[in-house]
This record gives sequence, C-alpha cells and structure tokens, in this order.
Amino acid sequence: MTDWLQHWKDDATFWHMDTTNTKLLEFGACLALQKGDTVFVPLCGKSQDMRYFLEQQYKVIGIELSSLAVEAFFTENNIEYSMQKVEKFSIYDAQDIRIFCGDYFDLDATHLNAVRVVYDRGSLIALPADLRVRYAQHLHAIIPSGCQMLLLTRNYPQSKISGPPYAVSEAEVVQLFKGFKCKQLECFDDIQNEPKYQQVGADFVEKAVYNLQKI
Ligand SMILES: C[S@@+](CC[C@H](N)C(=O)[O-])C[C@H]1O[C@@H](n2cnc3c(N)ncnc32)[C@H](O)[C@@H]1O
Repeated sequence: MTDWLQHWKDDATFWHMDTTNTKLLEFGACLALQKGDTVFVPLCGKSQDMRYFLEQQYKVIGIELSSLAVEAFFTENNIEYSMQKVEKFSIYDAQDIRIFCGDYFDLDATHLNAVRVVYDRGSLIALPADLRVRYAQHLHAIIPSGCQMLLLTRNYPQSKISGPPYAVSEAEVVQLFKGFKCKQLECFDDIQNEPKYQQVGADFVEKAVYNLQKI
C-alpha cells in the first residue's frame, strides 16, 4: 500500500507536473464548461490543473489526504486561504476553490452538489485494483447525475513493473464506470517517451483519455 503522506513528507512527488496537463488543454473543451461551473478534482495533490481551472474562471473542489500538499498548492500559487476543521475534514477555502483535506471515501453527496465536471488525472491510476472498484462506486454515489468527467489513464504490462501508477485498460474503465456513458477520446502508445518502462522490458505504454457522463 502506497504511503502517500510519507511521499509528501519526503518531497517524493514524482507524479507532480509544474505545467497544465496537455491532454486537459487538448480535450477540456468536450466538457462544455461555462464560467462559474464547479470542477471536482479527486485526489488532487497540488495539481497545477486546479490553477488552470481557476484561471478559466471555473470553481474548484478538491480532496487530498496530505495537508502538506494542500498548503503547498495555496502557498506556491500565492493564494490566500482560510482553514476550518469540520467533522473528518480540514477544509481549506479561498476564492473559487475549496480543498477538503482528508479521505476521499469520507466525502458524501452533500459536499459535491454543485459539481458539473470531474477531472481525474493520476487519481484512479494511483490506486490498486480493489480500491479502484471502491473509487468508481463512491464517485458514482457522490456526484450529481449528468456530471461529465475527463479521465486520463495509462495501460502497460503490469507484470513488468509495479504501480503506482497502475495499469488500467479500456475494458477495466468500461467495467468500473458501468453507471456512466463512456467514450474513449484518444489512446496511443507512448513507449518511446517512457525509458523507465523500456528498461524493464515493457513493450507498450498506452495513454488514454475518456469522456464519461454519470447517467
Ligand atoms: C498520484 S498523486 C496525483 C495527484 C494529482 N491528481 C496530480 O495529478 O498531480 C495521488 C494523490 O492522491 C492522494 N490520495 C491518495 N489516497 C487518497 C485518499 N484516499 N483520499 C484523498 N487523497 C488521496 C495522495 O496523497 C496523492 O497526492
């Protein structure tokens, strides 16, 4: 089991990107967001994609286990925030953004009733298979019907190297998100840009983008 809090303490955040995800820039338009709409970013870390959403004048709700990550997001982006403890969460608020610090599985529908869109980069694939099932079931339970989702995944021969990030195939996405309409927008082999996977003899690293909608 990955010790995420330790990763943050050790500053070993290998997944973090300092720039907006290029697939969000490429495919974000399919979400048909309007200014003022709310985007939910599960397992958000200190993702710069949240900053991008704010710059586009959307509202953001995040959930993240590590307070180091949450506080780093605000301080590194020069955003003033307040914090209050409510039940199981420390809730960090700033203009147009609220980040719940706590366990994703403790969120309920009342926390997310304003959400129009879910953005998942590095969240589903951060979890081992049993937790991915719980993650998808829980998401279905807590977001409003009609919610759109942009999901980024990768798939590779899991026997060659362990996760995270874990390998997730298209068949698994379809199975996990049975309560959603599911459309794969892109899938390509990026093995030439993945030396770590080449070194262990993996012959493909497929990266995929999906547009889902809760039925
Ligand atoms: C691989 S990182 C991805 C972060 C972010 N989505 C990004 O693209 O940078 C996974 C994050 O999920 C957080 N996390 C893991 N399990 C969690 C849980 N049950 N509830 C809330 N956050 C969790 C970890 O602390 C970590 O920051």
